[in-house]
Amino acid sequence: MLDLTDRHCRAFFRLFSSNVRLYTEMVVVGSIIHGDRERFLGFDSCEHPVALQLGGRDPEKLSFCAQLAEQWGYDEVNLNIGCPSDRVKNAQFGACLMAEPQLVADCIDRMVGSVAIPITVKTRIGIDHCDSYEYLASFVNAVSNAGCRHFIVHARKAWLKGLSPKQNRNLPPLHYDRVYRLKKDFPSVQFTLNGGITGIDQIKTHLSKVDGVMAGREAYQNPWIIKEIDDYFFASNNFPGGKPGSSRSAPVHSRQDIVQAYLPYVEKQLSRGVRLGRMTRHMLGLFHAQSGAKRWRRYLSEHGVKKNAGIEVIHAALKLIDADANATNVNAVRADCRERQHSDAMNGRLYMGDTPAVCVAGNG
Ligand SMILES: Cc1cc2nc3c(=O)[nH]c(=O)nc-3n(C[C@H](O)[C@H](O)[C@H](O)COP(=O)(O)O)c2cc1C
Repeated sequence: MLDLTDRHCRAFFRLFSSNVRLYTEMVVVGSIIHGDRERFLGFDSCEHPVALQLGGRDPEKLSFCAQLAEQWGYDEVNLNIGCPSDRVKNAQFGACLMAEPQLVADCIDRMVGSVAIPITVKTRIGIDHCDSYEYLASFVNAVSNAGCRHFIVHARKAWLKGLSPKQNRNLPPLHYDRVYRLKKDFPSVQFTLNGGITGIDQIKTHLSKVDGVMAGREAYQNPWIIKEIDDYFFASNNFPGGKPGSSRSAPVHSRQDIVQAYLPYVEKQLSRGVRLGRMTRHMLGLFHAQSGAKRWRRYLSEHGVKKNAGIEVIHAALKLIDADANATNVNAVRADCRERQHSDAMNGRLYMGDTPAVCVAGNG
């Protein structure tokens, strides 16, 4: 996701699961060809399996960038046929390419012919008035015949005229049934469903109909879900049909474990001159829905971005979480004691105080 799943984000996400596949932000072919290659292609070996997502419409340029991706060690190249932004639309790639199936097929044909790694496509279920199932199926037919064996389908159409990218991620309704139907009609092609994934039960349902799911916003805002997915589907081998096994490395028990595991990476990047804030910004959702989440977010947002901020900022933020957790525990015990005091008083017992240390029952 643009401006979100950069290399620091992916290195962080990898700590939650060794198994899930991570995708880069969309990188425009021109940036790779004319720009700083290390900036646009560089990644850490810990990120594997990792796919490079390309944006473009020129078969030659896409093929050249796919070759570079392979040389740099990416596991997959994915072509973006789903981005509806004005900038991308004006350059005539992204979602608007759904209207040009033959050109997409040419791009795929060139890319597949030039590398050994898989070439995949991320698309929508339609754009503007090209939104029937028949149109989608003819698009998939043309592009799969050109050699694309795996489609990631965001199960909502894009309105290129009139809706902003944000609205295009929320307003057009999700039609999961279209993606299920694609799988039925093209059984030898892999389909990964995307859009609105927020929990394990939903994923279980989708996996009984398609080959995979992709989570975007939920994974970013609540990365702990990646660990839950890893635990449920990979570590416990709960794939329908008993597919992929687990290749789990160090077991992760808590969010604090994740932070500890990320620290060596952060230190390495700091020593290379990367600002702390470029990493801490991806950690804000770590304690999502947990006690202390707000203080964690606020502290990291405020202090992580300061010039010369170092690893101590993360340690200090963690202390806030621990303090919050302790306070929550003490409060829970206090509340429990008060409740028991009340009910025991009713039963003729006496408590000496309301903290755990003096929470002594009478001789009952
Ligand atoms: C800020 C932001 C940036 C995004 N950038 C990309 C991108 O670079 N490439 C892409 O294929 N999708 C991108 N997306 C779309 C997501 O990959 C995904 O298709 C969409 O959010 C729906 O899935 P979700 O409901 O799980 O988030 C982006 C989404 C957001 C919120």
